[in-house]
Amino acid sequence: MHDFKYIKSELYAEDVPVREIARKVGTPLYIYSQNTLLRHLKAYQDAFDDSSHIICYALKANSNPAVLRLLAKNGCGADVVSGGELHLARKAGIPAHKIVYAGVGKKEDEIVQALKARILMFNIESSDEMAAINEIAGRLNKKAPIALRVNPDIDPETHPYISTGLRESKFGIPIENALEHYKLARKLPHLEILGIHKHIGSQITSIQPFIDSFKKVLFLAQTLKSNGIEIRHLDMGGGLGIPYSNEHPPHPAELSRAVLPLLKGNNFNLILEPGRSIAGNAGIFVSTVLYLKKHPEKEFVIVDGGMNDLLRPSLYNAFHSVQPVKKNKRRKSLADIVGPICESGDFLAKNRELNHLSRGDLIAVMSSGAYGFTMSSNYNSRPRAAEVMVKGKEFYVVRARETYRDLSRGATIPGFLK
Ligand code: LLP
Repeated sequence: MHDFKYIKSELYAEDVPVREIARKVGTPLYIYSQNTLLRHLKAYQDAFDDSSHIICYALKANSNPAVLRLLAKNGCGADVVSGGELHLARKAGIPAHKIVYAGVGKKEDEIVQALKARILMFNIESSDEMAAINEIAGRLNKKAPIALRVNPDIDPETHPYISTGLRESKFGIPIENALEHYKLARKLPHLEILGIHKHIGSQITSIQPFIDSFKKVLFLAQTLKSNGIEIRHLDMGGGLGIPYSNEHPPHPAELSRAVLPLLKGNNFNLILEPGRSIAGNAGIFVSTVLYLKKHPEKEFVIVDGGMNDLLRPSLYNAFHSVQPVKKNKRRKSLADIVGPICESGDFLAKNRELNHLSRGDLIAVMSSGAYGFTMSSNYNSRPRAAEVMVKGKEFYVVRARETYRDLSRGATIPGFLK
């Protein structure tokens, strides 16, 4: 469900015509609906209302400061994977006691930063990292609150690049080695064991992988208990998919109906780390048609946004629906929607049947609110796109389009070249 809909033949973001925003702000452009963001957050909050829980939104999906502030104001916590994300989460007003920190490569300064901020817990991914955090915490005269990220070896049946819970994945500790790792952690004086963390992958469209992996984690919690290690937080990660085309991923309520009964009789605090299911369908990417090009075998629609702005199609062959910002009744044709980047892999959509587009027309790439702007780059020295948030009849530029000045920010010419 989202707030991008046609009124007559015109695409609106909430109550604002997309065309009006594009005219004022230019393209390429990301537009987010605050209403959709809130509705998605509320779906989780309502679903888990009856249980002790924290929704720790995964910043990697969309870390625009206005998006973060909106979520923070509505009671959301954060899942961060870098010092930069921790900084943004804190700046947006997300309280430290609602922040969990994952990632296989936490650096020393980042660990210090998180300890000083007093986050809820580190989700530790290896014994080496465990030793490092213990050592750094000791130096600061602190105890580091931790969970171990376990790898439950469950196939989430999603794209291999975004599935993380399989045995061969670099993430987490194989679940069969978890007990020995927890015993090791118990011996380290500057660690405080608080939880178990798992995250098996992203864009998961069935409930079963969540149930299977959760059962494994619960079993581990019991094993730990019988070894004298009490767990408070069960962090079940993120991963709930969204409809990009005709997928029917489970609703958060379905997730809670499947998971909460398994927790009966325990008083664990549940942590959820949704990213995509909060932000994905709350955003679109808008681009202008520059040229049309016809090869004997193929038609191309060349637009001003490319893989530097929205990498998912190029990187994962991900499907995003492409819609005209103004519907027309022209003849339909099959075309690739491609960007301006000098790479054959630069496309937003392949073999799409769209009513004929002309130069200057606007297109909207749907479901682009998650892993859109956050994965964008300056490749081909293109300034990054602007971001807009819509609320009812109003819209706000929540990140200005980059300028050429940004392209050389921080760069210096050494003296011998002056
Ligand atoms: N927690 C952890 C530890 C994660 O690694 C991730 C995502 C999440 C939570 C949030 O997962 P979500 O609810 O968004 O599925 N760039 C890829 C997705 C990579 C996801 C990485 N980890 C894409 O565009 O599909």
